[in-house]
Amino acid sequence: MASFCCFSLIQFLVLDFCFLLSISNSQASSSSARPWSLVFPVQRDPSTLQHIIQLSQGTPSVTKNLVLALGGELPYVRCDQRQTSSTFRSVDCKSPQCSLATKYVGPAMCNKNKCSIQTSNPITHSPNEIDLFSDVVTARSRYSQDPKSQEWIPGPNVTAPAISFGCGTTASDAFNGLAKGADGMAGLGRSQFSLVAQLAASFHFPSKFALYLSQQAGFMFFGNRPYTAFREGDLAKGISYTPFLINPKHTDEYFIDVKSISIDGEIIPINKTLLSINKNNGVGGTRVSTIVASTTMETSIYKAFVSAYVKKAEAMNISRVASVAPYDACFNASTFVVMRGGLLLPTVSLGLPDNVEWRILDQRNIVRNVDPNMLCLDFMDGGLNPRTSIVIGQGTFLLTLLEFDMKKSRLGFRPYDI
Ligand SMILES: *[C@@H]1O[C@H](CO)[C@@H](O)[C@H](O)[C@H]1NC(C)=O
Ligand SMILES: *[C@@H]1O[C@H](CO)[C@@H](O)[C@H](O)[C@H]1NC(C)=O
Ligand SMILES: *[C@@H]1O[C@H](CO)[C@@H](O)[C@H](O)[C@H]1NC(C)=O
Ligand SMILES: *[C@@H]1O[C@H](CO)[C@@H](O)[C@H](O)[C@H]1NC(C)=O
Repeated sequence: MASFCCFSLIQFLVLDFCFLLSISNSQASSSSARPWSLVFPVQRDPSTLQHIIQLSQGTPSVTKNLVLALGGELPYVRCDQRQTSSTFRSVDCKSPQCSLATKYVGPAMCNKNKCSIQTSNPITHSPNEIDLFSDVVTARSRYSQDPKSQEWIPGPNVTAPAISFGCGTTASDAFNGLAKGADGMAGLGRSQFSLVAQLAASFHFPSKFALYLSQQAGFMFFGNRPYTAFREGDLAKGISYTPFLINPKHTDEYFIDVKSISIDGEIIPINKTLLSINKNNGVGGTRVSTIVASTTMETSIYKAFVSAYVKKAEAMNISRVASVAPYDACFNASTFVVMRGGLLLPTVSLGLPDNVEWRILDQRNIVRNVDPNMLCLDFMDGGLNPRTSIVIGQGTFLLTLLEFDMKKSRLGFRPYDI
């Protein structure tokens, strides 16, 4: 945990985090009480830029490193060795879990009475077949309100008796593309079988989760607000919401209805057809991804965006410089005006239904680490005929609280200034 603490950009927040972590460690004990919410520290693998949480599974419990994949239909882990957990159970073909998986994940096969399900790897999208099992999961519960003092106090560890996972072998395609050291996928999709839905059913809290990620680390919450990781209180304070759109061809993924992109309030002219989902083939629209590092835009949108941004920047006397791969639009850092609140630069917002705006670019997430003399836009050309026109990647929601609410079918977002 020490390594997690020392790499962060935001020292004061990190110190608070370590402080709270030490409290919850000292008070932790196992229980099966109904928690208000669960919290997991998140770490980022520097080479794949995937975010990972640690889940305790089985009896005795073993720590599993799971990659966060928003589109994943079900959680799955590597199961190469003989299972030694005393609470490990194969999911039977005739069980309710097997029919639930058939309904929400894919067709099931009966493999020596074991429920085997067709699914796909959310990173490579390659199909694979995976046996189901269930086991105990232990997690840290966070923050319940003390009825006497009304204070929010860290909760004990809690146990879910039977969370179903896919049981993959290293030889299958299920583990291609995963960060080194990862044991599987967290499976956070809009499926009744996802880790989110299963934890919610087991602990009787709402089917939702929240992410707050920085360059190196972050937090993930399951269940109820407040999402407290720091003494500052609820990270979701002042949150805005936008409804999810269902993509009939990719129902497990999180699409939102981006209607426009604007820079300093001025809307960029783009082909509107690209922003809607083609109901016949699922092409187009905008989705959120934890696997994609930089936000990608279909070529014509990307070109219009970069050229409009450069124009706005030049009007502020910010000069463009030769780019450094993989970035395209980079600017001379010494030409930015530094104000008391930080850098003065053009801000980019997404226009959403009901006049809601999501500020997706400001000084929080303009890239500074290529060269100390340069700041670059963390956006990539997504190509001419991509499946999804805009894929909002990690770079865009750094230091932003995102809440994925299945029940209310909406995305909450709250960008934080640093
Ligand atoms: C509580 O859970 C965390 C992570 O899940 C673990 O590191 C810790 O050892 C557990 N504490 C106890 C007392 O079981
Ligand atoms: C807008 O995009 C759609 C979908 O790719 C395409 O069929 C159409 O020709 C485009 N319109 C213009 C004016 O480029
Ligand atoms: C940009 O530079 C020009 C020439 O030095 C100056 O006249 C203008 O006021 C500057 N604009 C801004 C927005 O700082
Ligand atoms: C960046 O701007 C500074 C100050 O205007 C200038 O001295 C420097 O040469 C510029 N660097 C590049 C790479 O253009």
